[in-house]
Amino acid sequence: MASIADILTRRAGAAFAAQGLPDSLGRVVESGRPDLAPYQCNGAMAAAKIAGKPPRAIAEAVAAALEGDDLIEAVEIAGPGFINLTPKTHVYAMRAAEIAGDALAGAEPVAVPRGVVIDFGGPNVAKPMHVGHLRSSIIGDSLQRLFRFRGDRVTSDVHLGDWGLQMGQLITEVARVMPDLPYFDASFTGPYPDESPVTMDDLQLLYPRASAACKEDKARLEEARQATRELQAGRAGYVALWRHFAAVSKAALETDFAALGVHFDLWKGESDVDALVPGMVEDLKSRGVTHEDQGAWIIPVAREDEKRELPPFLLLKSDGAALYETTDLATILDRKKEQDPDLILYVVDARQADHFEKVFRAADKAGYFDRTQLEHIGFGTMNGPDGKPFKTREGGVLKLSDLIRMATDKARARLEEAGLGQEGDAEEREAVARAVGIAAIKFADLSNLRTTNYIFDLDRFVAFEGKTGPYLLYAAVRIKSMMRKAKDQGVAPGEIVIGADEEAALVRALDGFALAASEAYDKRSPNYLCDHAFTLAQAFSKFYANCPVLGAEDEAVKASRLALAALTLKQLETVFSLIGIDAPERM
Ligand code: ARG
Repeated sequence: MASIADILTRRAGAAFAAQGLPDSLGRVVESGRPDLAPYQCNGAMAAAKIAGKPPRAIAEAVAAALEGDDLIEAVEIAGPGFINLTPKTHVYAMRAAEIAGDALAGAEPVAVPRGVVIDFGGPNVAKPMHVGHLRSSIIGDSLQRLFRFRGDRVTSDVHLGDWGLQMGQLITEVARVMPDLPYFDASFTGPYPDESPVTMDDLQLLYPRASAACKEDKARLEEARQATRELQAGRAGYVALWRHFAAVSKAALETDFAALGVHFDLWKGESDVDALVPGMVEDLKSRGVTHEDQGAWIIPVAREDEKRELPPFLLLKSDGAALYETTDLATILDRKKEQDPDLILYVVDARQADHFEKVFRAADKAGYFDRTQLEHIGFGTMNGPDGKPFKTREGGVLKLSDLIRMATDKARARLEEAGLGQEGDAEEREAVARAVGIAAIKFADLSNLRTTNYIFDLDRFVAFEGKTGPYLLYAAVRIKSMMRKAKDQGVAPGEIVIGADEEAALVRALDGFALAASEAYDKRSPNYLCDHAFTLAQAFSKFYANCPVLGAEDEAVKASRLALAALTLKQLETVFSLIGIDAPERM
């Protein structure tokens, strides 16, 4: 399947070739001056240099060759040699029919499907999720949807932070609060009670307290470090307690992610690769990839030609402890064994860029994984009005469940104001408010260029006007309601025939999906999908304002316009499925 620009490119390319010029000069793109013509080809300027002729002369020869082409309505030359092209209306009709019958709604599958592991989410056991985890979850989920949609074999992994110092901090804190628990007895061997001695709420109270205490008190920190080491060395009581922490956290996280509509294939964590570390260290030592440096084991990864010297990859600290980077290297080995992917994407805060650069270079140096198949998909921060990473009014991190509730409350209020979403029973109304709230958050996040910081402004996110999630949901819901009405009136979609300009413009917008999907994929940035959804919704709203659908006099026109509406809905919902939002049936 080819887009309209591609179809025209083939014709223009042949016209350049007929003059003995490279056919690549015939690239046709959407016009920068849609008032003159919808498409343009700028190849004559480059051709002039090759042929040593004035660009206008070349453009005229190309135009003459395209004159009378069965796909082209008009060719005009503007300025020094821009070739403006208007396709015949049947080209639009044909393309629309093609998109209507296409499983990808007009997008292209990848040429060669690959195995891709996407590492995102990355919350930490017991620590509350912060906005960085939220962004990672939203962006990573959209990327997994997009990669899968275009044909890759995706495995997503939440990569829980379940193995660090925070575990020792918690163990020692629980030991203070509940000293009578059997877990602290060094001779403890089980049995492990099924019931966790702590709830998620307990953990969220205990962790900040432990973390603050360790900051203040060196001895307390050392105690936590010692507990972490003993846990990692397999002390039975600590392992049992840690299992409880992990299970309780996982259950809470599963609920949160389900509410957000974010899915992970794997719920692995840092602890899962702990067993691989000793063998990996041995391997790296024996091959001389790592060497000792002041008691620690490092892999130098700095490059001479770089301005800023990257610190070495730290494999083991001088006390023998493994670090965050050690686990990430071991995780690469694990993924190689388990999924053997062609590509691993890490959707993690841009501030961890150095961390990943070190890990990737070390993996490459060790011969574990090719550097070019490892990508850090960094993103900017979601800031509060003060320009600092968003915090609640109380100064804490925002809990995901609270964020969803806030957005749902705001959406409910907006819907009431606008007289929308008031149909159905209380349950349906609540579901609509929730869908609107979640769409608001996700769209606001994804519509930014991935790497930029943005300001959290719920009022703006939840607005029904402008480039927002709620606006787009509403656009889709309006079409759904029109489709229902058509059905009641016994009107069915029919063959698409293009008459009005707004109809052609709507098909051009639909045609743009292929490019949007491939750009979002290539740049690993869903904002192209968001832009496309907005452009499409706007084109539809112009069409709808100027071309009566159910009110059309002619039955064939009515059926054609209804088919255009159905097609718009199909593609909009396809894009929604890629950004992880859902349009209700009515609102
Ligand atoms: N748990 C980490 C954090 O909170 C993020 C994990 C990202 N993924 C990874 N493979 N390092 O910062």
